[in-house]
Amino acid sequence: LFGNLKVIDNEIHLGKYSMSYLKEKYGTPLYIVDEDFFRENIRKFKNSFKSKKFNTNILYASKALLNKYIANVVCEEDISIDAVSGGEIYTILNSRMSADKIYFHGNNKLKKELEFAVDSGVGKIVIDNTSEINKLEAILKEKKKKQKVLIRLNPGIDAHTHEYITTSKNDSKFGLSIFSDDIFDIIERVANSKYFELLGFHAHIGSQVFREESFFSEAEEMINFIKKVSDKGIRIEELNLGGGFGVYYTSEDSPFELEGFLKRYIKKIEELLEENNLKLKTLTIEPGRSLISNAGHTLYTAEIIKKTYGGKNFIFIDGSMNDNIRPALYGAKYEASIANKFNDNLEEVYTIAGKCCESGDIIIRDIMLPKVEEEDLILVSSTGAYNYSMSSNYNRIERPAMIFVSDEIKVAVKRETYEDLMRNDL
Ligand code: LLP
Repeated sequence: LFGNLKVIDNEIHLGKYSMSYLKEKYGTPLYIVDEDFFRENIRKFKNSFKSKKFNTNILYASKALLNKYIANVVCEEDISIDAVSGGEIYTILNSRMSADKIYFHGNNKLKKELEFAVDSGVGKIVIDNTSEINKLEAILKEKKKKQKVLIRLNPGIDAHTHEYITTSKNDSKFGLSIFSDDIFDIIERVANSKYFELLGFHAHIGSQVFREESFFSEAEEMINFIKKVSDKGIRIEELNLGGGFGVYYTSEDSPFELEGFLKRYIKKIEELLEENNLKLKTLTIEPGRSLISNAGHTLYTAEIIKKTYGGKNFIFIDGSMNDNIRPALYGAKYEASIANKFNDNLEEVYTIAGKCCESGDIIIRDIMLPKVEEEDLILVSSTGAYNYSMSSNYNRIERPAMIFVSDEIKVAVKRETYEDLMRNDL
């Protein structure tokens, strides 16, 4: 049980609130965020990711989970934030977070998004490709503005993760390869443009990465590259090494102990800089999953128990791939418990399936659980990242509500209604 989840009288509680209480008050399916645990994760990052040699900057990768409430929490914890779309920028601007704390990413930023970012005073735009340089330069010229930028580079590191979330192989759609023939010309062009202030480089090798060496190789490639660029007389002050730190979902995952890893990571980077006789002003990382995944859980009600002719034991829950597409999309695995009858009597193998018209709408395949009855509460753990943010209305199913639980409970997102589903229908 992650964070502040605990068992009292055979029932899972988050802090002082029992899951039955949460169901009664807010209904199911319900996204539940352990707010104190999320804040604690941010503080752990802040305490371990620091150096005497350069400033460190942590961005929350908002694609993992974004709404106004969480943006305000991130703001209170005083870290920066990344965004990959006009919609994410808009959401963040509607929180207390200031625009200059936003880094705007994306391989295909639309003209209207670039304009919106420039107009809103977004702190840094991370340029992905040469078309974007042209587009953004034209916008800045017209608006007579100068924009702080980083360039996204692809250092060609295999992060050994799922194909869909690896980003740094040579034919990846993201960034400019450090090996391409024209890379120095492109960098010079940005550095010399009067519309850009080139601060530095960005790279991100993939997500749910468990190998420390992958991050170390990334740092090494990037620092060697910065050395080459500096030798050409271009000053690079910021290096952003992206996110991707793997987390625990099931016993198949072996995340590194984060605080130890971050300290070794900093040390390695300090050494690499020293070897290359380089000075950085700012080192940036942008964790998403490792901040929020384990702090989020989804509470469902077991609606129907069904044994098939072939012998499969299904629990049909009131949620579905609408609220968690990751198992269907990536074969992602999760753990679950019966929240109202928590015990170690694992008696039966169940498959937890949703209500969509898709055989692939399965949240967990073959999990051992105590005997489940209709109306039992199923808590699926570590759904904080890439669940709500990837949710859909497929089959015209309403999205769940999301609550943030601390001493008090705050509804961050209300449950969608049938009217919400119809709101854009003419
Ligand atoms: N920075 C950049 C540029 C990224 O593309 C990403 C994730 C992150 C930071 C944050 O990575 P994290 O620390 O959360 O691993 N939907 C997939 C994950 C896609 C990740 C995309 N980029 C999933 O559900 O596993």
